[in-house]
Amino acid sequence: MQKIQSCCIEGLEVYPINVEVDMDTGLPMVMIVGLPNTAVKESKDRVRSALKNNGYDFPLKRITINLSPAYTRKDGTHLDLPIALGLLGASGQIPDLGGEDTLCFGELSLDGKINGVRGVLPMLLKMRELGYRRALIPAENLKEGRYVEGMEVLGFKSLKSLLGFLAKGEIPDGMTGAGKKFPDRKSSKSPVENFLDFRDLKGQEGLKRGIEIAASGAHNILFIGPPGSGKSMAAKRLPSILPPLSYQESIEVTKLYSISGKLPSEEGLITKRPFRSPHSSSTAASLSGGGLIPMPGEISLAHHGILFLDELPEFDKGALELLRQPLEDREITLSRSHRSFTYPSNFLFAAAMNPCPCGYYGDPVKSCSCSARDIQRYHHKISGPLLDRIDIIVEVPRGEYKHLNSRSPSLDSNTMAKRVLGARKIQEARYKEYAFSANGLLPDHLQNPLFALSREGEGLLARAFDQFQLTARGYHKVLKVSRSIADLEGSPDIKAPHILEALQYRQTHLLSP
Ligand SMILES: Nc1ncnc2c1ncn2[C@@H]1O[C@H](COP(=O)(O)OP(=O)(O)O)[C@@H](O)[C@H]1O
Ligand SMILES: [Mg+2]
Repeated sequence: MQKIQSCCIEGLEVYPINVEVDMDTGLPMVMIVGLPNTAVKESKDRVRSALKNNGYDFPLKRITINLSPAYTRKDGTHLDLPIALGLLGASGQIPDLGGEDTLCFGELSLDGKINGVRGVLPMLLKMRELGYRRALIPAENLKEGRYVEGMEVLGFKSLKSLLGFLAKGEIPDGMTGAGKKFPDRKSSKSPVENFLDFRDLKGQEGLKRGIEIAASGAHNILFIGPPGSGKSMAAKRLPSILPPLSYQESIEVTKLYSISGKLPSEEGLITKRPFRSPHSSSTAASLSGGGLIPMPGEISLAHHGILFLDELPEFDKGALELLRQPLEDREITLSRSHRSFTYPSNFLFAAAMNPCPCGYYGDPVKSCSCSARDIQRYHHKISGPLLDRIDIIVEVPRGEYKHLNSRSPSLDSNTMAKRVLGARKIQEARYKEYAFSANGLLPDHLQNPLFALSREGEGLLARAFDQFQLTARGYHKVLKVSRSIADLEGSPDIKAPHILEALQYRQTHLLSP
């Protein structure tokens, strides 16, 4: 009997698997037991061809392949490699893999090429935690695997090169890696390189101000304004002013992209905050994550980054409703018949919309051609509960010619990013004992003990509560946004001007109540 260690992944959960291969005399047949799904059952056909095409025998015996523990479901083509090695070992064609702490996985082509698989980073991280010290994986996945510290990760392009390594200990050039360092963005020349720059957006100071506050406190933001005013342009530049991803955040994001098979081919680790901008025709399933074993949807692919919904009212109402839970809980749970899956989805929510179907309601130059009913119907497409989760609403006026034409430099991402980072540092210090680190993520009940209000600020807020008919939720939002504005200024107290500005971001005449 031959035993090879490997692992499986379901959702983000990784568990070790033993591939046991046993042979007996009798009619030649292959049986795979231990709850294999179709991809695993088909493995024997790929392995048969791969062995034959590389000059090895597929043993003509009664073969039992047991995937233990037998009670968990096994999914994925990555068990091809351990099955092939198990067969070769059990029939005495290759020496032992060596070491209980070695694991392997990889998909085989019929000619013996080893193909890359999904979920390599989460699998290796978990297996290292369980004490495994060496992994034989597809060469294609090395870029991801080499970020796992404390584990010798070896990559192979083909069964032949892997067997060569097992026989003679030769590792093909450049196919090894361990503990590659996390790229440090501080060491690069400018923290905002590789991003679109706010410098390109001329004028629109109010819009930029709103965005800077949103980025400072991780506040959800909505832009309302006529077509061509720069809303989409501004949203695409939001990632340039957010603080860089920490190592821990980067690992969390990479895991999600790894299991979705969406890791960019040249990168092993995602080091930039994700910016996801699903089209308004997106289905609820593509936003939340779909499938029998659900893959992360757009809202999880935006984890630690930005989810931007352009033309918000064009989205399916059901799809928008579904955002409510993750906006509240910062994660999404998807239930399936056999179990449920939870993916993190802590994103900054940004959205843009025209004020009405024609786009010119409230515009001082071009007149709006919509009826009052058209406008109301348009606004009703976005539900109250969704609007309730938006902290900052910015009215974007049409662009002015003098700005577009101006050669004078406009506020750039570098300047904004520095201020955002300063405000974030203050928040990190304030929330150092908590699991969150930005004003926008603060649970409402913690506001009173944590926020210092100046006396005039207190009086103003009391008056505003009645005058603006704030709800409890609205009150909390005004306070959190004021806190971010005060942090941008480095003010320990929330003062009246901070509250006045925050109140502005709750009032808009462009949305019917
Ligand atoms: N303030 C601005 N500065 C520079 N270019 C702008 C500005 N506003 C709009 N534009 C130009 O107009 C185009 C349309 O802007 P866009 O962001 O798509 O508008 P919206 O999303 O509000 O309809 C942009 O690609 C850009 O070329
Ligand atoms: Mg647009």
